[in-house]
Amino acid sequence: MNEHDNPSESNNNIPKGMIAFFAFVIVFLFSYIALYTPAISGWSFYTIFEEKMAEAEAQASVDGTELKDSYSGDEAAIAEGAKIYASSCAVCHKADGTGGIGSDLTAASKYGSTQEDLYESIANGREGGMPPFKQQLSRMKIRKVIAFLETL
Ligand code: HEC
Repeated sequence: MNEHDNPSESNNNIPKGMIAFFAFVIVFLFSYIALYTPAISGWSFYTIFEEKMAEAEAQASVDGTELKDSYSGDEAAIAEGAKIYASSCAVCHKADGTGGIGSDLTAASKYGSTQEDLYESIANGREGGMPPFKQQLSRMKIRKVIAFLETL
C-alpha cells in the first residue's frame, strides 16, 4: 500500500469509557422521557402541586393554624397581620394606615372594601402604584393582613 497516494485513517478503537458514557446518556434520556412525560408515566406538575398543598393544609391543621378564608376578629391572626403590615405595607400606607404614597386605608376605598376586594388589591396589586404581593405573601398571610386592616 502506498501511503502517499492513498491516505487513510488509522483505525483506533473508540475508548471504552466513551462508549460507556454514550450508552449511559441514551439510557438516561429514555428513562427521563419515560418518567416525565405525562402521557407515559402520568407525571404531572399539577398532581405534585396538589399533593404538596394537601400536605401543607394537613400540617397547618395540626399546628392549629388552619387555612381559613377569613381571620376577622382572630386576635393571634390580627397580631401576625399587624407585623406583616408593619414590614411590607407601612412604608407606603403609614403605620396607622392613613396613607402616604399609598392610599388611606382607613377611609372609603376606591376598589371596594369587602374581603375579596381587599384580597384582590393586595394579591394582584392595583394600577395606581399598588404592587402585587402574591409572590411574597402566602394566601394565609394576606388573609391575616386583611383581618388587621379591618381593625384600623
Ligand atoms: C410601593 C408602595 C406600596 C406598598 C408597599 C403597598 N401599597 Fe397598597 N397601595 C399603594 C398605592 C399607590 C395604592 C393606590 C392604588 C390606586 O389608587 O390605584 C395602594 C392601594 C392599596 C389598596 C386599595 C385601596 C383602595 O382605595 O381600594 C389596598 C387595600 C392596599 N393598597 C393595601 C396594601 C397592603 C395590605 C400592603 C402590604 C401588604 C400594601 N398595600 C403595600 C402603594 C403601596
